[in-house]
Amino acid sequence: MRVIDHNSITDVAIEQMASTPDPRLKQIMASLVRHLHDFAREVDLTPQEWIEGITFLTNVGQKCTPFRQEFILLSDTLGMSALINHLHDRRATQMGTNTSLLGPFYRQNSPNMNPGDCIVKSPRQQIVIYGKVTDVDGNPIPNASVEIWQTDEDGAYDLQKQDGVAVPEMDMRGTFHTDANGGYYLRTVLPLGYMIPMDGPVGDMIRAQKRHGYRPSHIHFLVGAPGYRELVTALYAQDDEHIDSDTVFGVVETLIVNPVKDDPNSPMKGYPAIHFDFKLAKAAAEGTGRVGADPSQIVKASH
Ligand code: BEZ
Ligand code: FE
Repeated sequence: MRVIDHNSITDVAIEQMASTPDPRLKQIMASLVRHLHDFAREVDLTPQEWIEGITFLTNVGQKCTPFRQEFILLSDTLGMSALINHLHDRRATQMGTNTSLLGPFYRQNSPNMNPGDCIVKSPRQQIVIYGKVTDVDGNPIPNASVEIWQTDEDGAYDLQKQDGVAVPEMDMRGTFHTDANGGYYLRTVLPLGYMIPMDGPVGDMIRAQKRHGYRPSHIHFLVGAPGYRELVTALYAQDDEHIDSDTVFGVVETLIVNPVKDDPNSPMKGYPAIHFDFKLAKAAAEGTGRVGADPSQIVKASH
């Protein structure tokens, strides 16, 4: 009989899992147990703290719905999502536009739109976003899909504005396709930076840490075309006061933009314009560049 104490328990647990047939699962679980046990030993975790942690995770799970993914929010605010993004980008075979977080507010099947359409149902001050989708050498990619989603001018996503509605209507989102020269243009509004959802356990954590909880103003994009690595990224507004302290660590310098008042190249005059070209890397063996999911797909998959 092996003696189990506060140190040997780690090897004993890992040895019992050694029968795992899937080698990757075996590796991940052994490493998880090792780090988990080291963490508990390092902080000398007490029974009360252990139960508090379990209660916290239980609350995180119970906050999840098809439209609210508190676990992704937790991962985001711990820097885990940004880390997974960076690790995943190292697997890309070519360096395209920098990626950023998908976040919890992505929804599949946003309305199909025509060039120049406005994605916001009740805009106050419109802006234009335009540019090209190309490969890494600058060759245009026709018919690439450009999905966009964002908050409104007051900093709320459609899902937040319709909290509690069974099937919230889509707003501030849409899907465009590039023309024969890889070009796209659309109208939207400049979103306001906003506080991540703070009415759940992750909000309690953020407050306990005295963090401000804000994301700087940003516009999400998911850009894809057959044969290319799907690009999940976002553009960030230069002037936002939280540009250097994003609560979820998504800002990358190359993605910071500033609308230009009288841009002579803008395809729609009279609106401030943001010009941004997206570069797609060739598809790699792992296929997609997407890190994250529509929350409704996660809930569905786990039933
Ligand atoms: C967002 O991009 O909207 C977002 C990302 C992570 C957490 C919360 C919100
Ligand atoms: Fe967002």
